[in-house]
Order: sequence, then C-alpha cells, then structure tokens
Amino acid sequence: MGKLVVCDHPLIQHKLTYIRNEKTKTKDFRQLVDEVAMLMAYEITRDLSLKTVEVQTPVATAECKVISGRMLGLVPILRAGLGMVDGILKLHPTAKVGHVGLYRDPETLQPVEYYVKLPTDVQQRELIVIDPMLATGGSANAAIEVLKKRDCTQIKLMCLIASPEGVKAVQEAHPDVDIYLGAVDDYLNDHGYIIPGLGDAGDRLFGTK
Ligand code: PRP
Ligand code: URA
Repeated sequence: MGKLVVCDHPLIQHKLTYIRNEKTKTKDFRQLVDEVAMLMAYEITRDLSLKTVEVQTPVATAECKVISGRMLGLVPILRAGLGMVDGILKLHPTAKVGHVGLYRDPETLQPVEYYVKLPTDVQQRELIVIDPMLATGGSANAAIEVLKKRDCTQIKLMCLIASPEGVKAVQEAHPDVDIYLGAVDDYLNDHGYIIPGLGDAGDRLFGTK
C-alpha cells in the first residue's frame, strides 16, 4: 500500500481553515490555495533523491547536495487543480506541467474526460497529480489511469481535502500511489460533496458561482 500522509504542519492547517470559511472571497481563496499547495509541495518532495557535487565557495571547496534522479511533472486535474500549480512551481520552477481535463457528471458523479495534454517525456518523470478535492475518488482514479495507460510508473496524488471514501477508492484502485492530503473530512453527502469540506473548489477558485 502507498503512503498516506496528512500534512499536519500548523501553517497548512491554519490556512485550510480560512479556505473552508464560506466568507473567504475568490481573491483570498485563490491566494490561500496557492500557499497551501506550496507548503504541501515541501512535504511531497521530501523523498527526492540527492547527489553530491563540489562547489567552490569564496573561501573553500564544499561537498554539497543537489536534487538528482527523475525530473518532476505536475498533472493538475482541470479545472480546480490549476489553482495549485503555481504554488508548487514556486518551489520547483523546472517541473513540467501536463493537464487532464475531467468533470464530474452531476447525476452519476462519474468523471468525464474532455482534455489530455502531457509532456512528451512524461514516462520518465516523477508525477504529482493535483486536485483540491478527493471526493468519490473517481476523478483522481481516472487521472491516474490516464497516466498509467501511457506507461507512467511514479505517481503521487496531492489534494487539500479528502473524504474517507475517496481515500479508500484510490488506495484500492492504485495501491502503488502515495497520497498527500491537507485533511481527511467526515463523509460524502448524497450529492458527492465532502462534509464539512469547502464547497465547490472550482467555483470558489474561479468565481463561477
Ligand atoms: C471537482 C474537484 C475534483 C472532483 C472531485 O471537480 O476539483 O476534480 O470534483 O470529485 P470526485 O472525487 O468525486 O471525482 P469538478 O468535477 O467539479 O470540475 P471542475 O474542477 O471543473 O469544477
Ligand atoms: N468537488 C468539489 O469541488 N467539492 C466537493 O466537496 C466534492 C467534489
């Protein structure tokens, strides 16, 4: 089974509280999602491999570390995953970004794919699928399947808020995928919304409701 990490850093938990608040308006919501994504990127990249290099400082030669191994690829699930991209790129500006467009059919709650555009070397990258919400898990599972169909093997998932049902669905379908979350909430309601959650992430990010 892959890792399940709930990022309990006080800064992440504090900012999540403001993200959840219905009084938080679009501009602040966007800013906070960006900041939490950046903080979570710190956690999710903790196991990147390092190699030793020699650097000449002004006074001596130093043996130092630089990141080595696979390059990163970010895969936001459209639309709401887009809100997390820039925060992660602040820490990892060289990551490439692929896009998977999915929306949830409001009746069936099943994900509907409408767009896929990935870096040409996607198989060689360590990939982070990003989406603020892991509700039924249908969208995350579909995005991971899109990547696996293209022979990608190193995949992590990063979400701000998850339901217990969503976590279970991803763990069952993709036991090889490590999951990084800001919080696991109580349950899904009859409309597939996470309770207490934050409402509709896409609408709150883009001001569409
Ligand atoms: C939301 C959210 C996830 C999905 C989660 O997207 O951003 O992608 O729902 O639900 P699931 O785990 O049950 O699949 P939505 O379908 O509302 O599309 P949007 O981002 O375009 O608003
Ligand atoms: N999508 C959202 O944006 N919010 C939820 O609570 C569930 C799915």
